[in-house]
Amino acid sequence: MKEDKILITGGLGFIGLQTARLLVEQGHQVKLLDNLSPQIHGAVPDLSSLALLRHPLVEIVRGDVREPGVWARTLVDVSCVVHLAAETGTGQSMYEISRYTETNVGGTASLLDYLANHKHNVAKVVLASSRSVYGEGAYMCERCGLVYPPARSESMFRLRQWEPLCPKCRGTISATATPESAETTPASIYAATKLAQEHLIRIASQALGIPAVIFRFQNVYGEGQSLKNPYTGILSIFSNQLRQGQTINLYEDAQESRDFVHVSDVARAVVLGLLSEEGNGCTLNVGSGFPTSVARIALLLKERLGGETQMVVSGQYRFGDIRHGYADMSTIRAKLGFVPEVSLEQGLDRFVAWVRTQQVEPDRLNTATQELLARGLMEGHVESKTTTI
Ligand SMILES: NC(=O)c1ccc[n+]([C@@H]2O[C@H](COP(=O)([O-])OP(=O)(O)OC[C@H]3O[C@@H](n4cnc5c(N)ncnc54)[C@H](O)[C@@H]3O)[C@@H](O)[C@H]2O)c1
Ligand SMILES: [Zn+2]
Repeated sequence: MKEDKILITGGLGFIGLQTARLLVEQGHQVKLLDNLSPQIHGAVPDLSSLALLRHPLVEIVRGDVREPGVWARTLVDVSCVVHLAAETGTGQSMYEISRYTETNVGGTASLLDYLANHKHNVAKVVLASSRSVYGEGAYMCERCGLVYPPARSESMFRLRQWEPLCPKCRGTISATATPESAETTPASIYAATKLAQEHLIRIASQALGIPAVIFRFQNVYGEGQSLKNPYTGILSIFSNQLRQGQTINLYEDAQESRDFVHVSDVARAVVLGLLSEEGNGCTLNVGSGFPTSVARIALLLKERLGGETQMVVSGQYRFGDIRHGYADMSTIRAKLGFVPEVSLEQGLDRFVAWVRTQQVEPDRLNTATQELLARGLMEGHVESKTTTI
């Protein structure tokens, strides 16, 4: 592949900066396009502590992926695009539908419009998609085999029937690793925009003859994740609360689980996909390959951050949340030889060491929660019999 600059949209975000760091270490020139969204970076962004941004191989362009004019300015000397810029809050996407659609779908469309209509040297596009496109993802039923349950209904939530049921026999099922071939049934507007991005990139890539790799990230965590954004990033939210001694509210019965993957592994996967030809045309999961319950992740964090914080299993829930989900990692292993390297314990040690160097951010989770409650997108009733762990 002819090497020129690598453009990272959303390049000043959590995954963008890690990816840029890795590329620069390997001697590549990177250009970081970002609008420094106040929700992520605060009202007055302060990038002074980021030595990477002063590296001679790094260029920063402040701009918005929604403006068509931005591409002529930034793509001029670019050979590859890593498209990360997005609005990322699942709950928030349910009531800021236009904003999510304009940035995630409109921004991608605007990039592809430029590639379709102007002379350029872009020879590869990498898209950050999300495991959310699967909805609940894959489960096993003893009677029916592999099944893909639909999003949990309101009545299931109300009955505290947290576990999805088999869509064929209504029996009990257990989560299993979700492969890329799984059905896609987005349960939130955010997930729908990520799936739309995938479709746009897949179709345009074929039509324009520009190879593309689509990554579906699981829950990415690690140093550098915005501590200001109360709309996403469960570890950042919990660590803010732990440092302020505030009660942590664990939804449902706290046994819902996620696949937590460290950001350095995610950046490594992106760079492998970008620089090798093997992933071209592929959609690849990026996760740790195993589930961890929310209760366990909260306890592991508390062990590291200490403090007197109480953890309460409240029985509250949010519509659109999935119950479980973890990645089948066999395709990315076969295509790119990628295996995650950072264990959850090591990753949490690194995250906590970094958190301790950051100022404590005011906890804005309450604002985010009130926004959901006001619109009936969350159950506000806390069970009278809460459990403290
Ligand atoms: N972090 C995760 O757990 C996770 C999981 C699955 C998928 N993803 C995807 O990975 C990508 C990166 O996520 P992240 O965790 O680094 O998020 P982030 O919020 O830290 O970074 C996104 C960056 O994009 C910028 N941005 C937002 N709107 C923009 C716009 N209109 N124009 C230009 N820049 C804009 C923001 O300022 C921010 O710096 C996103 O596409 C997200 O959907 C992330
Ligand atoms: Zn069944």
